[in-house]
Amino acid sequence: MPVVSGSSGRAIAEALAPLLGMQHVELITRRFPDGEGYVRVPSKSIESVRSEPVVLVSNTYPDSGVLETILLLEAIASVRAGDLSNYKNEEPQSLPDVGPGIFLAIPYFGYSRQDKRFSPGEAVSARVIGEMLARCCDGIAILDLHAPAILEDLSVPVEFVSAMPEIAARLSKEVDPDFILSPDKGAIDRATEVATIGGWDFSYLEKTRIDAHTIEHTPKDLDVNGKIVAIVDDMISTGGTICRASDALHRQGATEVHAACTHGLFTAGAISRLSNHVDGVHSTDSLPNPRAVVSSAPALARGLKNLMG
Ligand code: R5P
Repeated sequence: MPVVSGSSGRAIAEALAPLLGMQHVELITRRFPDGEGYVRVPSKSIESVRSEPVVLVSNTYPDSGVLETILLLEAIASVRAGDLSNYKNEEPQSLPDVGPGIFLAIPYFGYSRQDKRFSPGEAVSARVIGEMLARCCDGIAILDLHAPAILEDLSVPVEFVSAMPEIAARLSKEVDPDFILSPDKGAIDRATEVATIGGWDFSYLEKTRIDAHTIEHTPKDLDVNGKIVAIVDDMISTGGTICRASDALHRQGATEVHAACTHGLFTAGAISRLSNHVDGVHSTDSLPNPRAVVSSAPALARGLKNLMG
């Protein structure tokens, strides 16, 4: 069975394929000079893509990733349906339809934070993208989606998988924390999972986001004096959440503070900002970044095994 990838999922697809007992096959993706995308299932891979169910690894981030994922799914679907008709009249033009069997693995689901209509007139972007993808495949595995409820009733099965077990293993090996902290209520479940796996103490902060760059943490008495603390979140973007939480922990006597996340977006100079506030940053490779030290492949493999039976 093939695990295929475009421009965003290659490294993860290569790691995922052996975990599923499958082969990695790279599809063709290019950019035209005007920036528009082009995708193709190469002739040499057509038989493989038709032979058995296919897993596509692709991120819906940045915007070009949303489009590339849809175009790749469409290209795979036409090959599997046997529609090979083409302008160059290359043969064969058609083959029998091999039926359903396209599964999408999304390491980082972009737009996940626009999961509600916060103000009238907004698009609920996460839902819009989820519905578009569901029209082009037979099942989706998504890694640490910000708030899974928004995609719970799509027209195809969705497996919500988490890299928290792998993050716990990394922290256990490299940090040996005394205490796990969720920087807000939204990350409590994930951080609790990490704390439970490692047998570490756990608490959370009350966070108020003033705007995209300003965050306030309500002071809370935490027993972190002299302790090593790891802050666990689903994603780090500007780093503001982690920096403020780390400052609060240091004020309360923490000796060392680490940050761990699934999705390391690290926008707007986040890496250098974080280096002034925390002792270490540990991210998965769901997005390419300089702190990607945890593989997201095992978590995706767990979800895909469930999806594919
Ligand atoms: C928000 O609820 C998320 O879980 C993260 O805490 C947030 O997106 C991190 O953003 P930033 O790094 O910009 O503070």
